[in-house]
Amino acid sequence: MHKFLNSRNPLTLCMLGLLSLGISGCGGSSNSDSPVSTEPPGADDAPIAEQAAFNNADGFNVVREPGPRLPIADEAAEITEADFAAGLPAAVIQVPDDVDPATNQAPVFVGLENIEVIAGQVLEVIFEPRDFEGDQLGVIPGMFPEILPQGGTFPDNLDGTKTFRFQPLQNDVGFLKFTVTALDPANSDYRSSQSILIKIVLPADPSTIPNVAPMLDEVIPHTARVNDPVVFELKGIDLNGTVPTLEVPELPVGGSFLQHPRFEEVYVLKFVPETVGEFSVDILARDSVDSALTSTETLTITVLSESAFERSTESLRVLAQNRDIQIGFAALQSFYHRPDGAIYAATAAREYNIVTPENSMKMDYLNPEPGRYQFAATDNLIEFAKLHSMTVHGHPLVWYRQLPAWVQNSKVADRETHMTDYINRVMGRYAQDVSIWDVINEPMADDGTLRDSVWLESMGAEYIDKALNLARSLSADGTLLINEFDIGFSGPKFTGLMGLVDDLQIRDIPLDGIGFQLHLFSNFDQFAELRANFAEVAARNIDIYITELDVSLVQGATAAQQAEVYAQIAAICLEQGRCKAIQTWGLSDQYSFRSIFDPLLFDRDYQAKPAYSAILDALTIFR
Ligand code: XIL
Repeated sequence: MHKFLNSRNPLTLCMLGLLSLGISGCGGSSNSDSPVSTEPPGADDAPIAEQAAFNNADGFNVVREPGPRLPIADEAAEITEADFAAGLPAAVIQVPDDVDPATNQAPVFVGLENIEVIAGQVLEVIFEPRDFEGDQLGVIPGMFPEILPQGGTFPDNLDGTKTFRFQPLQNDVGFLKFTVTALDPANSDYRSSQSILIKIVLPADPSTIPNVAPMLDEVIPHTARVNDPVVFELKGIDLNGTVPTLEVPELPVGGSFLQHPRFEEVYVLKFVPETVGEFSVDILARDSVDSALTSTETLTITVLSESAFERSTESLRVLAQNRDIQIGFAALQSFYHRPDGAIYAATAAREYNIVTPENSMKMDYLNPEPGRYQFAATDNLIEFAKLHSMTVHGHPLVWYRQLPAWVQNSKVADRETHMTDYINRVMGRYAQDVSIWDVINEPMADDGTLRDSVWLESMGAEYIDKALNLARSLSADGTLLINEFDIGFSGPKFTGLMGLVDDLQIRDIPLDGIGFQLHLFSNFDQFAELRANFAEVAARNIDIYITELDVSLVQGATAAQQAEVYAQIAAICLEQGRCKAIQTWGLSDQYSFRSIFDPLLFDRDYQAKPAYSAILDALTIFR
């Protein structure tokens, strides 16, 4: 174990002045009933320099985590024999406001049950969603698995069904939950998620389990710019649970291939393609038990000329600056460890002047265990932002999701301390470099009440006051936001949020603005409502940030329709003096969290889409 809860000396807390934050125990006598403060970051959390052979960062020095790898949380361990015996879990249905389940039924999966399988045998489960509405009988526009286990596949049978095919091995013995979500044909926000529980048992003779060939973790094709360094992080996988060795039979000229200093199953290939065209490198994975058992996979990379990425128009950031707003993106964590990291960074640097870490500041990542911190990814992003004069938008300090297990399982009475500790430590480290903060993320439920969360459960509505007050005490000038989704149209959620703002303002709780996430679909048309909502926020003398804009393509939609939504959103922001920024949730479709819907301004080859031109035009047109 790295560090322990409660090992903190209360006297030190007093010396650091943390007592004012409600942490009791000063005077040297420890009170076992007092909230448990975890250890703050120490020297053993300090990131260390990473060798250049492991990244393709240009102009800043990458750091990495110092310590050994974190234990991987085993979610499946939470499934019990009793859960399995209780039968198929109930479907989880997500009902948007404009759907009446009485007239439009959510998709239903037929013929499923929990299933037991012997390790080594191949499991096949057919997922058949049905939708019963009128002439759309049987038409499901989309069906996707939440997580596909290593080695599992989910091919489309092209008859409205998909098959989950999986051969569990030694490592998989225990329980597995496999979840598939189907979208309603009439409304893609109307979704039904169905899980099945799978019990995997050892055969009577475990030596009958086949030793399967090792493989590489999924490698997708990439695009790079000629003469930019390409970095591939390659992870060897052996479903039998051993660690394969990776080899490159023909190393590209001048390239390197090194085992990762932290992860024994990861190797890093780095090379600089000097000519335009298709580039490929073979990687061989060798089984650690039977060295004759190998498999080879080919990495492919399309190398384009420098001119392929050049744009003759002015950059978005310059145009935005002329219009007195900022333009930003959420940065893929550790983009400098990706094959296309160099062009990713160059595109970002040219176009944007705000950056939000997509994941690296979330509590589950940053503080995965009590007293243990992973700062390297955020430190690197801040160096990148400084190099390119970008504002850093911190996200999120207090959220109900992406929490580490230790917080989810914490005692209700201790959570205020966990929250304040976290804010203190994150803002303590980054307040100088981060000027916009999503202090509270997604506090509202659809019905306009406060969303249930570990924080609400512990502190009631006051968690919001406490977090905002503390944030202000740590950053006098920072822009403190509440960030929320599904508030781009009218309805109880937005009304509830305005009620919260009024309540905070009456009581002088600091709040500088509202973040509108705006994860939209290309058929979004509630522009008048969005404009009105912006006006309502502005009427309260606080700012508006469009924080997580993306426009997913609905089936059959064109890039032009998507661009039109971007154009309208940009125009609505520009006409509203309180709207300070347009930030997209990601940079290229390659890495969007909704990449299957191609929602962003740049495609997988980092080519500007019509959506990019739409924003550019909106920023250019002066009224
Ligand atoms: C998403 C990230 O994009 C994903 O990579 C991650 O797996 C889940 O979270 N609202 C938010 C963001 O405030 O933090 C979410 O980001 C998207 C929805």
